[in-house]
Amino acid sequence: MRVLVIGSGGREHALAWKLSQSPEITKLFCAPGNGGINEIAEPVDISAEDVDALTEFAESKDIDLTIVGPESALAKGIVDAFEKRGLRIFGPSKAASRLEASKVFSKNLMKKYHIPTGQFAVFDEPQAARSYVRQLGVPIVVKADGLCGGKGTIVAHTLSEALGAIDLLMEDKIFKQAGERIVIEERLVGEEVSFMVITDGVTAVPLLPAQDHKRLHNGDKGPNTGGMGAYAPAPAMTPELTAQVMEQVIHPTIRALAGEGIAFKGVLYAGLMLTGDGPKVLEYNVRFGDPEAQAILPMLKSDLVPLLDDCVEGRLSTAKVEWHKGSCACVVMASGGYPGDFQIGKEIQGLESLKNSKDVWAFHAGTKRDGDRVVTWGGRVLNIVATGPDLETALKRVYDAIAGIRFEGMQFRTDIGFRALKKPVAT
Ligand code: AMP
Ligand code: GLY
Repeated sequence: MRVLVIGSGGREHALAWKLSQSPEITKLFCAPGNGGINEIAEPVDISAEDVDALTEFAESKDIDLTIVGPESALAKGIVDAFEKRGLRIFGPSKAASRLEASKVFSKNLMKKYHIPTGQFAVFDEPQAARSYVRQLGVPIVVKADGLCGGKGTIVAHTLSEALGAIDLLMEDKIFKQAGERIVIEERLVGEEVSFMVITDGVTAVPLLPAQDHKRLHNGDKGPNTGGMGAYAPAPAMTPELTAQVMEQVIHPTIRALAGEGIAFKGVLYAGLMLTGDGPKVLEYNVRFGDPEAQAILPMLKSDLVPLLDDCVEGRLSTAKVEWHKGSCACVVMASGGYPGDFQIGKEIQGLESLKNSKDVWAFHAGTKRDGDRVVTWGGRVLNIVATGPDLETALKRVYDAIAGIRFEGMQFRTDIGFRALKKPVAT
């Protein structure tokens, strides 16, 4: 099978790494790829958002299956474009991608179909939004409707923060049309879990629950980032909670979309808050989480290709999925200054030592090959990932590996998994 992966991050490196182990793969491409992916997949110099060029490439190269990493391509309708040409692609349609691309759409859907989520109101006019915030008080959450690269949500602890967020989104329009409409939502309290399933619109196959760490600094402090680390399975998500979420969130969401005439195929990701009042949906994503995928895919014992293939063909009810025992941890190494301004082009040293490891991997994100050297080429640079019989061992392997890697200005969190380590790890 000739397979194309779309994207250039750590998630896509983990996907390409897992796919490359499948005996079903005869040729693997990645568009556009990065310094690590390009070692295992042939790079294609097309941006992940250039739907027309990607469609043409897939057609001309007889690609049998395409797997989409980032949401931007999905929201642009890459799946519809491929399917129109009879090309097989893993991911939801443009209409189904609205679950992630429009918070107004997803919140209204949850309300209509009684899927547990925080109370909210929608505004397209700043004055009304301000009055609402003044009336409800803080803490309160202000969210841009559209895609903002993970930066469109502000959890406000003071009134001036909340009013400032409304100004930034609706008056200064820092995210352009994405912030023209906003959702104002009650603040939920609890532990967060990233819960993903692969679904063909009827059957939903759960992946291991994961937890990511979005904040830059230890103790979940500092600014939000694209994710500084993750681990799986997340013990907070007990088997009972998993069953509850499947029954109260996942299946109702798939049915709700069907009720609106929308079939969902691909990864359905529910970002959950485990509140005292049960699990509630914070957000949906319509693709693999990053960095969650980097911590989940090494735990997958089964071949990924038949699973994705069964999803595309609508026969997931017969799919069999096996997981390795133990845990997997991922720690992100980022450029100095990230998520603000940072420099690129810094040489990365020490990666060779991981080449032959069986349980530690460096999944690349913002890297580029420059002759024999690998240099930094983005904010999040590397995902150091390890498996182990338990989370503690996996984390020790990750941090031992990090001790041998160097690039100027590098920063990473030293406390990934801290919540889970306080609890007995589920077996
Ligand atoms: P979102 O943009 O909806 O994915 O939210 C990004 C992050 O903001 C989440 O991962 C949570 O940490 C936080 N967040 C979002 N909504 C809420 C909420 N209603 N209450 C508390 N925290 C929230
Ligand atoms: N880690 C969160 C996301 O992928 O959106």
